[in-house]
Amino acid sequence: MIATYNNLNIKCVLLDMIYRNFGNSGFKCSAIGMGTYYDMRWIFKTYFGIYSNRDEKIEAIKTGIENGINLIDTAELYNTEKIIAEAIKDFKRDNLFIATKVFPTHLAPRSLEKAVNRSLKKLNTKYIDLYQIHFPSPFVDLKKTLKRMEKLIDDGKINNIGVSNFSLKMIKDSNNALSKHKLTSVQLDYNIFHKNIEKNGILEYCKKNNIVVMPYFPLGHGKVTKSYYNQYFDQIRRDIKGIPNANIALSYLISKNDNVFAIPRASNKEHVLQNIKYSDIILNDRQIKIIDDIKY
Ligand SMILES: NC(=O)c1ccc[n+]([C@@H]2O[C@H](COP(=O)([O-])OP(=O)(O)OC[C@H]3O[C@@H](n4cnc5c(N)ncnc54)[C@H](OP(=O)(O)O)[C@@H]3O)[C@@H](O)[C@H]2O)c1
Repeated sequence: MIATYNNLNIKCVLLDMIYRNFGNSGFKCSAIGMGTYYDMRWIFKTYFGIYSNRDEKIEAIKTGIENGINLIDTAELYNTEKIIAEAIKDFKRDNLFIATKVFPTHLAPRSLEKAVNRSLKKLNTKYIDLYQIHFPSPFVDLKKTLKRMEKLIDDGKINNIGVSNFSLKMIKDSNNALSKHKLTSVQLDYNIFHKNIEKNGILEYCKKNNIVVMPYFPLGHGKVTKSYYNQYFDQIRRDIKGIPNANIALSYLISKNDNVFAIPRASNKEHVLQNIKYSDIILNDRQIKIIDDIKY
């Protein structure tokens, strides 16, 4: 079956994907994206030129794009920007939303400029859709960093600004510090086990200000697949036959709020296909409550 999204004809082998406005970006992204952080050991080995299972990782990302995922997350820290460049090279760039992150040691204006140029080169792209501050730095004036990021937008190097691992106060400060542009996204640890952002005001603030929330560890770094949790997930499976734990956990995040875009790790083609297969499922309030009640 051929489906059209963002004016691109793609092979859509599986089910319909949910696309939603990615905050104020003007871009419609798939509610399920692809993350490309593997692990610290993998990153360490890349410094010695060892990119374990590189071809499988590229294949996993390509499979995601072919089947409708258009949101891909990376970071200069992950050393996966070149892998993404390889994976996206045969796709129309304008139809993809590529998010990367700048490391906190590169937040001073001049370092920032160098970091973005490095990322552009590694990603082999003229622009980055979303440039995120990976972690805050106590050593750099946040306002100066954000001002420089606004200039990067004006220069056409990046299209949107995001932050990650920021407190509510820092998110508010960032949004207020921007004058020409608005904060587009916040990336934080958010999954069925870890729902702090629902209680500390971050989710509420983001919703009110049209800021996207990108939950990282959406699968609890794989923990949701443990059989212990079947007792909860089996209740959902009475309604949705055969849906695996991982997919319930992803649907849970994107069902609760429409400013949420989950980015499960994409390193394995079968898992990527599985994540797409169930990507159009929106849980109802009763099903959400079952997952809300999980004890861990
Ligand atoms: N901003 C930050 O500070 C920050 C921090 C951490 C992560 N992130 C971002 O968030 C993304 C996701 O985080 P994460 O990769 O650490 O954790 P995650 O997505 O919660 O979990 C990854 C684990 O889940 C497995 N998995 C993926 N799809 C599955 C499926 N359908 N069924 C069963 N298992 C499945 C993966 O195995 P396979 O690899 O075998 O598929 C891997 O073991 C990262 O890739 C990165 O882009 C951001």
